[in-house]
Amino acid sequence: MPAISVANPKGGAGKTTLAFVLACELARSGGSIAVIDADPNAIIASWGRKRAEQGKSAPFEIIAGPKESELVRLIDQYTASHDFVLIDLEGTASRMTSRAFARSHLVLIPFNLSPIDAELAANAVALIQEEAEALGRDIPFRLVRSRDNAAMQTKTAKRIVAAIDEAGLPLLGVGLVERAAYRDIFDFAATLEELDDATTSGLPAARKNAYEVAHAVVAAVQVEIRR
Ligand SMILES: Nc1ncnc2c1ncn2[C@@H]1O[C@H](COP(=O)(O)OP(=O)(O)O)[C@@H](O)[C@H]1O
Ligand SMILES: [Mg+2]
Repeated sequence: MPAISVANPKGGAGKTTLAFVLACELARSGGSIAVIDADPNAIIASWGRKRAEQGKSAPFEIIAGPKESELVRLIDQYTASHDFVLIDLEGTASRMTSRAFARSHLVLIPFNLSPIDAELAANAVALIQEEAEALGRDIPFRLVRSRDNAAMQTKTAKRIVAAIDEAGLPLLGVGLVERAAYRDIFDFAATLEELDDATTSGLPAARKNAYEVAHAVVAAVQVEIRR
């Protein structure tokens, strides 16, 4: 039922990776998932195409390259038929982004823990707040740490997290850790489950992290729906 958008105008923030990992993880836990790939780079759609060429199905439905004019209808259609709808967006101010925000139960803003990226994430938050004002209601969102250092939290990262906290912005408790597995899924047109320990290092840790991130996102969306 819920629609979750992933947005941030900054390229390379980790939007597609987060949307994809969530789709895999929610599908693995038994949900029926639809991914609307509205990213102009169409990475998830091309992942699905590669699999089809290899004779493999995808564990979730992929709706590639929606037109701006059909986005709302698609979101409504798939939220009615599926447990979760994930929308991979570019996130720049556009009608596509506005419409996705207006129809989303939660917007995720992944960002890298660097001062420049944190500032750009603040722009993404401002865009959501502007849309919320236009709509006349809140648009629930969470900032999500992306490409987190698995071994330690740097002093810079701690400072950024403290600043987010001070600004009263909601930060998801778990971030997506920097892992080779999150790149190899695209390289091998695979899911996290299908990747092999022989070719991908740190796989168990990546799977655990994906589970924890998905769990935190589901908890956040449930909180927002109950509000
Ligand atoms: N958690 C992660 N671990 C490893 N690589 C990552 C992770 N998140 C993103 N990347 C890599 O960073 C780059 C940008 O990520 P991507 O998800 O495409 O960002 P966006 O969709 O915001 O442009 C890609 O090369 C991707 O493989
Ligand atoms: Mg992308």
